[in-house]
Amino acid sequence: MTGSDEASPSQPVPLPDASRRLVVAIDGPASSGKSSVGAAVAAAIGARFLDTGLLYRALTWLCLERRLRPEDGPAVAGLVGEIDLGPDEAGHLARVLVDGRDVADRIRTPRVDRAVSEVSRQPEVRAALLDRQRAIAAAGAIVVAGRDIGSVVLPDADVKVWLDASAEERAARRARERGFDPASPPGIAILDELRRRDQADGSRAVSPSRPADDAVHVRTDGNTFEETVAAVLAVVRAAGAVAEGSP
Ligand code: DC
Repeated sequence: MTGSDEASPSQPVPLPDASRRLVVAIDGPASSGKSSVGAAVAAAIGARFLDTGLLYRALTWLCLERRLRPEDGPAVAGLVGEIDLGPDEAGHLARVLVDGRDVADRIRTPRVDRAVSEVSRQPEVRAALLDRQRAIAAAGAIVVAGRDIGSVVLPDADVKVWLDASAEERAARRARERGFDPASPPGIAILDELRRRDQADGSRAVSPSRPADDAVHVRTDGNTFEETVAAVLAVVRAAGAVAEGSP
């Protein structure tokens, strides 16, 4: 799907009464744009935003800090109670708090990237984070980004989107964000790491990363950010979840 609709994410439109508890699940592979697109969609419809990858990343960071082995599921799951998410100025749950300290800028690092698939493969970890994610979602209208939100965490979500793009396109975006030419050695290393993570996240035994059967696929190759936001908003509108005439 390409986004031909006009989107005006900067002008939130209050949700109609019936949509006060609207739940939008946006799943997809690494670097598919779930968090930036999800945040813009949430802002456009006046909902909260949760990027569940932050929970897995925070837990991985804490596991490494405590020198636990990422494959020690029960021990790592025991750390879940030490992690909290708080709202930023935009009301998005983007502040990652460990023992009251904001660690958001420490969890998007290559060190965490390398260990996070192993941590998120552990059944005890997934079980411990399931209740946490559901409790956050139950508190009112929300857009939730992740890998298994529509399939496992919130199977009754009102809207389910699977956001995807080729590995080459996703890696090129990530390389440019970090200031590298996608064809340079660091750019190629980003592509290799992304493929490794796709493979690990898609083949784990518990909750593999995959589209829910009833998810709408939005492919973003060649799209601008605004086109992708508009495409997802069109899916939300088509589901009848937001009043006609909103962005
Ligand atoms: O979206 P991200 O790259 O920040 O996510 C980091 C890792 O967390 C990802 O490699 C897989 C895991 N994850 C998961 O297993 N389930 C989710 N709902 C979200 C993330």
